[in-house]
Amino acid sequence: MPSEPLRVSTSGASSELVVLQPGVFGLRAVAGPSGTFGALLEAALEAVRAQGGRALHVRVDTATGQPDAAPALVALGFVRVSERAEFEATVSDLPDDAGSPLAWEALPDLGEHRLREAAALLKRAGEGDPDWQSDDDAFELLKGYLADPALTGGPDCVAVGRLGESPAAIVVAQVHRTSGVGRLTYLGVFPEFRGRGLGAWVHRHGFAMMAAQGAERYRGGTLTNNLPMLKLFSRHSCPESRRLEEWVWRHSDAPAT
Ligand SMILES: CC(C)(COP(=O)(O)OP(=O)(O)OC[C@H]1O[C@@H](n2cnc3c(N)ncnc32)[C@H](O)[C@@H]1OP(=O)(O)O)[C@@H](O)C(=O)NCCC(=O)NCCS
Repeated sequence: MPSEPLRVSTSGASSELVVLQPGVFGLRAVAGPSGTFGALLEAALEAVRAQGGRALHVRVDTATGQPDAAPALVALGFVRVSERAEFEATVSDLPDDAGSPLAWEALPDLGEHRLREAAALLKRAGEGDPDWQSDDDAFELLKGYLADPALTGGPDCVAVGRLGESPAAIVVAQVHRTSGVGRLTYLGVFPEFRGRGLGAWVHRHGFAMMAAQGAERYRGGTLTNNLPMLKLFSRHSCPESRRLEEWVWRHSDAPAT
């Protein structure tokens, strides 16, 4: 799976196409003056189709996004699927996880067997997450995240939290190698352990993992209908930095030609 972004540009506008999982692409770093978005989207869709892609995800900043974004997305068959809130904080201001009831263990290595085990746990942790798609492949997603050359990707990026003998939670934490910005690529508590205060400890362990990997800033986000996750950002005093709309084009959504 290619992990280097593919540059997409038209006259006056540019962006990057990244592979989120096989056949599923994301358009990132969109830049260009008003009026150029539609042509850029068409170029991106052409690149996705040329590679046999089945979906393209585009995020649009609701405050600063280009005014022509929504009509251009609708015209090309994109559907607005969600709204996302993003938060930013300085890592040294975040609480540590001293006193946590969870015992954490990083992956011993990144062999396929370990990744498949971790992916099975990720899938359980993702149950009920409004952002988890039925066609998401947890193994491919995890493999893709860890193979991203811009981000840290060692075995210490994935940790499983146990409550007594039982695995109860998982965190994937990564840091952008050049900017020092950390992200919690995924975190979750298994359904049977939710609603008893563990989520806050899981979030805090993620902060500790990012700090151990040298992160200076934390940038995180969740869908605006993920109330427990929104509460965790608020509990840990992470200020909201922006809101994004997520639009998706799927192969079957495309208007008949
Ligand atoms: C988000 C998640 C990790 C929270 O874990 P948790 O162990 O249930 O969280 P907690 O028990 O610590 O609760 C956190 C807060 O959410 C609140 N909460 C819990 N369940 C809730 C619900 N269904 N609706 C609204 N609020 C809820 C709690 O009251 C608590 O609020 P408080 O800080 O005001 O007391 C867990 O719901 C989860 O794994 N979800 C699926 C994966 C996911 O969405 N990951 C995040 C992707 S960005």
